[in-house]
Amino acid sequence: MINQKQQTSFYLRRLMDMNKKIVMSGIRPTGFLHLGNYFGAVKNYVRLQDEFECYFMVADLHSLTTHPDTKELKINVQRVLSENIACGLDPEKVALYCQSHVHETAELYLYLTMLAYKGELEKTTTFKDKVRLQPENINAGLLTYPVLQTADIILHRASYVPVGKDQEQHLEMARNFANRFNHRYGDVFPEPQAFNFGDELVKVPSLDGAGKMSKSENQFATLYLSDDDELIRKKVMKAKTDSGPTVPNSSKPDYIENIFGLMKLVSSPEVISKFEEDYNNCTIRYGDMKKQLGEDMVKFISPIREKADAIRNNEQYLKEVMEKGAEKARKSARATMELVREVMGLNYF
Ligand code: TYM
Repeated sequence: MINQKQQTSFYLRRLMDMNKKIVMSGIRPTGFLHLGNYFGAVKNYVRLQDEFECYFMVADLHSLTTHPDTKELKINVQRVLSENIACGLDPEKVALYCQSHVHETAELYLYLTMLAYKGELEKTTTFKDKVRLQPENINAGLLTYPVLQTADIILHRASYVPVGKDQEQHLEMARNFANRFNHRYGDVFPEPQAFNFGDELVKVPSLDGAGKMSKSENQFATLYLSDDDELIRKKVMKAKTDSGPTVPNSSKPDYIENIFGLMKLVSSPEVISKFEEDYNNCTIRYGDMKKQLGEDMVKFISPIREKADAIRNNEQYLKEVMEKGAEKARKSARATMELVREVMGLNYF
């Protein structure tokens, strides 16, 4: 049996080893997971879990900035956990935990708020969006949202953060805050980078051609991992199209590009090239294309939905996953915070 002091020194040594790259990311429990969450984030989590030390969490504290009512929170947290596991995340390999279970997050968040400036926080795109969407609740948590996100990431001294394109600005801010801390107090944190296996971060568009798929807005234009087969087909059939191109090899309008983009996520290369050809020689039938896309989406989503349903019904299992995940995350967090307090000069005895 190793004692806590030995354990901490093990983690400190491990944290000092800059070659060991750590991965961290999170998802807010504000609704059902959708195709954007899958292709922007969870798919990469699964691919990273064998190679890296990974911390993946349900960002329940972040959800309070927009959803202060906590009645549904437990069920939503369980849903996100189940869906992550159903997508292939293995709680034995990674730390899968809930943000509010790791109290060190709040301490680091507090220190970082003193290094974040009002002007830069007010300029954040997501803050400006939220001010527009909820003018009656522009709380300080919304303003400092990127600071809390930075605390989540650097608490584990993570280098890679698998996220979708919408999180690019938050990651840039995380780098700024981490660098500011390092310059002021001492080199503790690596620079976290947004990560995707492809060249670019992913943005899964909504089916109506306006914006991206989203947990709480745009629900009929978003494909959720919990949608039943009929609903998937119905949503895809409603996707915006037009009467088709009249000039061979013409460029595609955004909403048609989006349908091809969605097809590239779930359909076979043969299917995609058939419809590309049909488009280029002006024989494309969008009805047929959407029918095919609907079937391919059903094939992709239904096994995840069924697995997630089964996991969600096993409350005891989910409780164990959360406890174990929190335990792993706390160990890493404690070690970082010892370093943080030390370089900040807060250890008075
Ligand atoms: P959230 O909950 O909005 O989204 C979770 C993940 O899904 C990605 N995503 C998308 N990717 C591609 N296309 C889309 N349409 C799409 N919609 C969502 C997001 O980029 C994200 O990776 N602030 C974060 C949660 C968070 C976090 C963190 C993330 C809290 N702490 C620390 C990383 C590290 C958010 O609101 O994600």
